[in-house]
Amino acid sequence: MTKSTESHWDALQGDWNRLSNVHLRDLFDKSSDDRFTQFSQSMDDMTIDFSCERIDRGAMENLLALASASGVETARNAMYNGDAINNTEDREVLHVALRGERGDGYVVDGAPAADLVEPERDRFLKFADDVRDGTYTNAAGARFTDVINIGIGGSDLGPVMAVRALSDFKGDGPNVHFVSNIDGAHLTDVSRDLNPATTLILVASKTFTTIETITNAQAAKAWLKTELSGADADANLAALSTNLDATADFGIDASRVFGFWDWVGGRYSVCSSIGLSVALSIGGENFRAFLSGFRAMDQHFKTAPLDENLPVLLALIGIWRRNVMDCPTVALLPYNQRLEFFSAYVQQMDMESNGKSVTNAGDLVKHATAPTIWGTPGTNSQHSYFQMIHQGTDIIPVDFILCANPSSPLDYQHKLLTANFLAQSQALAFGKTGDEVRAEMTDKGIPADEVEALVPHRTFAGNRPSTSIVYADHTPYSLGRLIALYEHKVFVQGVIWGVNSFDQWGVELGKVLARDIEPMLDEGADLSTLRASSRGLINCINALKS
Ligand code: F6P
Repeated sequence: MTKSTESHWDALQGDWNRLSNVHLRDLFDKSSDDRFTQFSQSMDDMTIDFSCERIDRGAMENLLALASASGVETARNAMYNGDAINNTEDREVLHVALRGERGDGYVVDGAPAADLVEPERDRFLKFADDVRDGTYTNAAGARFTDVINIGIGGSDLGPVMAVRALSDFKGDGPNVHFVSNIDGAHLTDVSRDLNPATTLILVASKTFTTIETITNAQAAKAWLKTELSGADADANLAALSTNLDATADFGIDASRVFGFWDWVGGRYSVCSSIGLSVALSIGGENFRAFLSGFRAMDQHFKTAPLDENLPVLLALIGIWRRNVMDCPTVALLPYNQRLEFFSAYVQQMDMESNGKSVTNAGDLVKHATAPTIWGTPGTNSQHSYFQMIHQGTDIIPVDFILCANPSSPLDYQHKLLTANFLAQSQALAFGKTGDEVRAEMTDKGIPADEVEALVPHRTFAGNRPSTSIVYADHTPYSLGRLIALYEHKVFVQGVIWGVNSFDQWGVELGKVLARDIEPMLDEGADLSTLRASSRGLINCINALKS
């Protein structure tokens, strides 16, 4: 918190003093239909409804003032200008250039980013189409039936989410599978029913040093060789990386190495060659539509005034929930089966970006940062953890997402899905009073003593916040736009909290320790350098080994 924002945080606290005892029922009653108009914002066919958040006009104005005072516009311009805003790694942050057009004018090291991006994009999309139409085959001339993307974190979560999300656009492309976990069961399970001869392996790793990915890639290479001679197996391997020396050392031919650059963070890399698995699944043309959806949101974020800017508004609502209402988690719940892995993807994007407790200047942050992001698709979630969201002791804000049009021919089911999407935000916001419960039970002829015993259990306090996002159709374009909405939301929040959203030092220590511990799992290894807990557990594991 810099001096210049202190008064804005104080103003927000004042807003909460005013609003904390006001029920959403009253906020709606006061403004009737106006509240939707006042607290919703659209961009093309996408509308975000904030009216079920516990805010009023004054709070919204103070949130917008906080964004300005925190330098959101300056930071946004610095990102688009290619400044090295990733200060701990001295890197530009230019994932927007991956989906940009030449005319957008992104510059890296004084040269147009398009000079790098366009040829590499054309290369990997051509490769995807060549594999799909059988122009590129295995060494024996057979078409690839399957693809395994081996990667982890940002080299896995975006691709797996997008491939699942866009399964309607697969056509006769290969089946795309994903292996990420160092647990050998993952590769074993995925490869079990596949034919090595017709499986293309993509080794996806920005650094090409990630132990999970390299170990799985070596095992996959050995698996290919169970069916193919050494030289023939090479044709079944491709790499997606910024580390071209390491891909060469691994033995992957340069013609099948698709690069990107250190100014693309792993969790922001699905538009780079890391998205090759997506392109293999949906084809180059659909992949370009996916990119143009991102670009539409990039342009909106860059140019829309703060009070009409969807990522900014979404971020500010998040600040209100996290820092003013003190809510530690957010449930991200797409009412869309195709978005099965969307929450897991945003979870990494958000928590790895803003899960920081030190500011850019190296001081301790003064405000809580990234909330825990979690969730699964509705309506499944309604039948597992919604009980707690409705009646638990913690307030859990929810982001709901729905497409107006179905992704399946089962129209009636989409109607039910939509009804449930609407019902949940309503139930959360307005709840059900004790008097309503009492009247309903009495009408059913339930004896008064039974009614009174059950009223506390059947009452919904309501006043639980949610934001709803709706748009027309689930397509590559709309998925790209939705992802970019959350990317820029995370960016804005990082700026307000004053943290670097683009490093991830917090994951390093565990990696180093695992490397040190690995040899200690050998029989008779010296465990004396370990603390009692690890020593005790290793002894326990060794005793249990069969
Ligand atoms: O461990 C975290 C992380 O560095 C992520 O940020 C990244 O997406 C993932 O590992 C995979 O890294 P790489 O693509 O270099 O293998």
